[in-house]
Amino acid sequence: MRTQAAVLWGLKERWSVEEVELDGPQAGEVLVKLAASGLCHSDEHLRTGDIPIPFPVVGGHEGAGVVEAVGPGVTAVVPGDHVVLAFIPACGTCRYCSEGHSNLCDLGAGIILGPQLDGTYRFHARGEEVGQMCLLGTFSPYTVVPVASVVKIDPDLPLVSAALVGCGVTTGVGSALHSAEVQAGDTVVVMGVGGIGINAVQGARLAGARNVVAVDPVALKRERAPEFGATHVAADVDEAWGIVSELTRGQLADKAIVTTDVAEGAYVGQALSLVGKRGRVVITAIGHPDETTASMSVFEMTLYEKEVRGALFGSSNPRVDIVRIVDGYRRGDLKLDELITSTYRLDQINEGYDDMLQGRNLRGVVVYD
Ligand SMILES: NC(=O)c1ccc[n+]([C@@H]2O[C@H](COP(=O)([O-])OP(=O)(O)OC[C@H]3O[C@@H](n4cnc5c(N)ncnc54)[C@H](O)[C@@H]3O)[C@@H](O)[C@H]2O)c1
Ligand SMILES: [Zn+2]
Ligand SMILES: [Zn+2]
Repeated sequence: MRTQAAVLWGLKERWSVEEVELDGPQAGEVLVKLAASGLCHSDEHLRTGDIPIPFPVVGGHEGAGVVEAVGPGVTAVVPGDHVVLAFIPACGTCRYCSEGHSNLCDLGAGIILGPQLDGTYRFHARGEEVGQMCLLGTFSPYTVVPVASVVKIDPDLPLVSAALVGCGVTTGVGSALHSAEVQAGDTVVVMGVGGIGINAVQGARLAGARNVVAVDPVALKRERAPEFGATHVAADVDEAWGIVSELTRGQLADKAIVTTDVAEGAYVGQALSLVGKRGRVVITAIGHPDETTASMSVFEMTLYEKEVRGALFGSSNPRVDIVRIVDGYRRGDLKLDELITSTYRLDQINEGYDDMLQGRNLRGVVVYD
């Protein structure tokens, strides 16, 4: 079929919205008509090279929609089913899926390679094969994805809001619940209040944190954070340190979650300075792939038993956690609609990313017809 897609043709280029050819679903694949796609910072990393991916590529990895057709052998979903697209597939049978860590599924190896899992391409443009970000490519009103990447949800849920659960909400909430393992009564710092960080704030509140300190240099982010559960806000780490020190009589935070635009090496030491004895730092933001140093006091790591942990997809199991999150939304425990600051047409995608980089959005969302 012919459809539109936002394609990235090279480093530092703008998204090119153009007509593309999309093949039908092959064995184990699903054709999805998307309702919306969130504008996550990880697609901006494709432009900067912080996430290395072969070009050209259809961007987007945060979407939800309706199954239009299924390929041979697909029984888990049928046309008409409503689905969230998880940015990491879960095969259900590899070692990591079996251990309950399907965010680390072996199929995840394919998310920044370009082609589908069988090594062939579904999108074509200008006579070239075009890859798909995270095997998804949600910057198109139609896409073909592995059945391992779709999670069925109830048809009465609003698909535009549900799109955000495909990456940002699950990553942020999971970073607090599963990666930081926030406990009731904890003091938690969230460094960077974008689409991911605001959900780490929600996650910390859900876990019963006593204090949730949201840190962001952008005033709008600090204004919005209390709506989602922040008890305090700070413009930088120094200000946050003063607040946390005062709140805990000098014991400092239990957990610090790094959800900045990029995880600079220096942020690790800054986050470690905010947590006290047995404190845990969670790194959710993506670092530069060739940076191999991070500043930290190794002395303090030992004497205070501090720890640093990476977090992919918020250490979540998409098939369990996506369903739980949309359930939490239905019960009113968790906000989704309020995360959407601005909506765009697909041909406005570059404006959407400019708004993200200018700090105007909690989350921008491309909405399809
Ligand atoms: N680990 C994962 O599974 C996963 C999943 C999705 C996204 N990510 C990554 O998470 C990061 C955040 O993504 P996003 O979509 O929320 O981005 P975003 O651009 O919406 O938000 C980033 C926020 O960080 C703030 N910030 C920048 N420097 C800061 C600093 N020094 N201190 C405090 N705040 C600072 C910005 O003002 C902005 O509000 C990106 O690196 C993204 O690639 C990781
Ligand atoms: Zn994302
Ligand atoms: Zn697996």
